[in-house]
Amino acid sequence: MKHLLKMLDLSQQEIFEILDLADKLKYQTKHGIPHPILQGKTLGMIFQKASTRTRVSFETGMYQLGGYPLFLSANDLQIGRGEPVQDTARVLSRYLDGIMIRTFAQKEVEDLAEYGSIPIINGLTDFCHPCQVLADLLTIREKKDTFDGLKMCYIGDGNNMANSLIVGGLKVGMEVSVACPDDYQPDQQVMDFTKQYGNAFSITDKPLEAAANADVILTDVWSSMGMESEIEKRKIAFAGYQINDDVMAAAHSDAMVMHCLPAHRGEEITEKVFEAHASEIFDEAENRLHAQKAVMVKLMMPEEA
Ligand code: CP
Ligand code: NVA
Repeated sequence: MKHLLKMLDLSQQEIFEILDLADKLKYQTKHGIPHPILQGKTLGMIFQKASTRTRVSFETGMYQLGGYPLFLSANDLQIGRGEPVQDTARVLSRYLDGIMIRTFAQKEVEDLAEYGSIPIINGLTDFCHPCQVLADLLTIREKKDTFDGLKMCYIGDGNNMANSLIVGGLKVGMEVSVACPDDYQPDQQVMDFTKQYGNAFSITDKPLEAAANADVILTDVWSSMGMESEIEKRKIAFAGYQINDDVMAAAHSDAMVMHCLPAHRGEEITEKVFEAHASEIFDEAENRLHAQKAVMVKLMMPEEA
């Protein structure tokens, strides 16, 4: 594993290795056991979009590992004024030990990896959000002990979170069901990937059908970053795609609810369901830190992973 560009690139074994290492690093963090595995290493963090969790968890995680994180706003970099990503990648590779990037086009992340010579971590693109899904899988395994026999259900926009959850969920052995409006389906590359999983994957436009007997219910915002101009249109298209009491009644009585955050109460999830499952949702947010520390160690100090 040289980079973390998308869940499609990871094997099941690599996913489990990341989760196992994340468990270990979480234990060490909680018990005050120092783990300066990345001492002397630097991580550049390029942000072309806003962030709370990704920025703070990467920055803190790098500090806890003994390394140094640099926040690089695209507004201040020459990349924001049109310097090609190919050149940025080759220059930053001379200074840094790794790059985390949050941007729009997946191609930009893939180009950084192709032209640079250091590990690249995808901190969210329009196509996927692998760091979030690794944290989600860590949280599910913590709460349910295993992925075997579990059904994961995603309701809402077939966006970057849907694309990554479908791939991650199927790769670790869960059944995955999705409910999206017809015009907001997951990416075709992901739909093609699901074909090898037969009945373990299903997609419908009926949320209650997708939620039937689910063990984990997930959703995400109806309008992702960069889609602000479509907010009103999307509110109409997604009106029936809310995680509410009806959805929870269709799922198993002990079903978890997860949300990558930020959440819009009253839109993709009701206030009541959100607050009833707040402990799971905020454990999920915390697990960004632990999962990403594992990713950074695996990529920047593989002999320690
Ligand atoms: N879930 C997530 O990636 O949050 P941020 O946008 O705050 O980083
Ligand atoms: N789908 C959302 C996820 C935010 C973490 C977005 O891209 O804005």
